[in-house]
Amino acid sequence: MPAQILNGKALAQSIRQQITKKVQGYLEQGFRSPKLAVILIGDDPASEIYVRNKSQACKQVGINSKLINLIKSVSETQVLDLIDQLNNDIDIDGILVQLPLPPHIASHTIIERIRPDKDVDGFHPYNLGRLAQKRPLLRPCTPAGIIELLKTTSIELCGLNATVVGVSNIVGRPMLLELLMKDCTVTACHKLTRDLKKMVQEADLLVVAAGSPDLIKGNWIKAGAIVIDVGMNRMDNGALVGDVEFEKAKQHASWITPVPGGVGPMTVATLLTNTLSAYEALYLKQNQLYQRKVNQ
Ligand code: GUN
Repeated sequence: MPAQILNGKALAQSIRQQITKKVQGYLEQGFRSPKLAVILIGDDPASEIYVRNKSQACKQVGINSKLINLIKSVSETQVLDLIDQLNNDIDIDGILVQLPLPPHIASHTIIERIRPDKDVDGFHPYNLGRLAQKRPLLRPCTPAGIIELLKTTSIELCGLNATVVGVSNIVGRPMLLELLMKDCTVTACHKLTRDLKKMVQEADLLVVAAGSPDLIKGNWIKAGAIVIDVGMNRMDNGALVGDVEFEKAKQHASWITPVPGGVGPMTVATLLTNTLSAYEALYLKQNQLYQRKVNQ
């Protein structure tokens, strides 16, 4: 029997509806809207599309988004100054700097300048440290979105052999931490892994974020495995393909994500969830405390 499809698009839509309702409720109580600041440096076409999608998603659920587009030659100091401003702005709940950055700007320097409680990407070492210690606050969007998607299968993750292919700071590494938090037996594969096929063959749960079209052959997939494909590779003919041979893998897996319509929409939905959480923790809590004081 072919695998069932993990429909990220549908789940993301339902998460967006829940967020819309919550935001409406807060507005009805007289609170301001949540607000996300998005910094885009340069004119990379893929980054422009990602940022546009994120801004549109914010608008749909009632989150204000402020796009700050900086020229490619902007200095690191200028970006740091902007982040300081946004950190101190009480009307900004979340800050996102779209990656990658131009080579003269060190992404770790920029990420570490963002206040951890406004770090809606969850990339700050504080937030990653919290995740590593099983006490997460703001979690990286793609891995957290994948965990939400896995919940829809009702499969117990505890004890599964989980293999992650790709060890980027954005997806692979935090994904390993998420799966470890679920008590999986976790394996990390990367460019120097000696026998990728063998590692994949042993996986009950496979997450691939390598950015290499059809890297994972369908006949490597263990019977009944869950396959999560984070890859989004644009081919010369315009087609979008993942890192896994989808049609062949589908014959072996129990569940599989499509590309597009699998992981991508969950990343954006989790960004909205994180922005709402930051707003609730920062702005809302303070204002509710203030109101309680006034009413006493
Ligand atoms: N570039 C690719 N993915 C991401 C992401 O999730 N967040 C940011 N800020 N940049 C990215």
